[in-house]
Amino acid sequence: MRISAILLKGSASSSRWIARQSRDPYVKSRSGSGTGSNGQAAYRSRSSFKLVSIANKHPILVPGKTKTVIDLGAAPGGWSQVVANLLSKGKARKQNEHLKIFALDILGMEPIPGVEVIKGDFLSEEVRQQLREKTRKPYLSQNSEEMIGNEEYSARTDRQDDEEEGIVDCVLSDMMAPMTGNRTRDVGLSLQLCAAATVFARDTLKKAKKGDEIIKKDGGKKIWPGGNLVIKFFAHPDMDEFRSLELDPWFGKVVVEKPKESRSESSEAYWVCLGFKGDPATQ
Ligand SMILES: C[S@@+](CC[C@H](N)C(=O)[O-])C[C@H]1O[C@@H](n2cnc3c(N)ncnc32)[C@H](O)[C@@H]1O
Repeated sequence: MRISAILLKGSASSSRWIARQSRDPYVKSRSGSGTGSNGQAAYRSRSSFKLVSIANKHPILVPGKTKTVIDLGAAPGGWSQVVANLLSKGKARKQNEHLKIFALDILGMEPIPGVEVIKGDFLSEEVRQQLREKTRKPYLSQNSEEMIGNEEYSARTDRQDDEEEGIVDCVLSDMMAPMTGNRTRDVGLSLQLCAAATVFARDTLKKAKKGDEIIKKDGGKKIWPGGNLVIKFFAHPDMDEFRSLELDPWFGKVVVEKPKESRSESSEAYWVCLGFKGDPATQ
């Protein structure tokens, strides 16, 4: 089943799909059965340190370069704190005065300076549309009269086509539905959240252009042209299939990370997708 079908048919269908896959003998054979007083950042969640770990290893959040970030499944706000902290400290604060961080969750959360919090269910198209529109502001959604004479607006309207393609530098998804204990259903829900985050990232991420080069950072890390995506998933053979069909062809590089902060008994891991290239059919 392709991404479009997973999204169109909803969680009941994706659970049924997983259930069917589990009964399929072929599939069965495949599967084999903030800053604290000590000067260290103080974050709201254990999960924050997973993002710190991923960001230390991969250039997903680059001070001065990364300007728009979307944090999905953000409550209680640990990942947004990490993003705000990484991208607006020291010199980066000046370089990044246009930094925008949007934090979305079905649950409410306490405010974080520099972060716009949105409460809503990401599986609702209305909520996703609201978020898409916000990422375009102020360049496309505001009354143009207000923007006349605004230097940044003029520079941006010259690149309107690019904006239509996407202006987001990084989409992060730590979304996880409450576990039911029913593996088929849990993997189905995770797949549905992954599919929704992937489609949203394709609509909103900046796309690498032909001729854009990979930049080498100090320490030999490569900074890929195009936006980045990080998604939590639950290990399952169907997730491998999702990655190879829906992520690998769209990005410069995709790796699986299991940060040491993630409990070893948990089957969660993260796809780190670097350098959005756009639709493979048009590359
Ligand atoms: C592991 S927690 C995120 C922790 C967060 N990254 C942090 O560091 O504070 C997973 C979050 O996903 C959210 N979530 C699950 N399904 C969602 C949905 N359909 N829409 C929005 N948020 C969702 C949950 O409410 C929960 O807060």
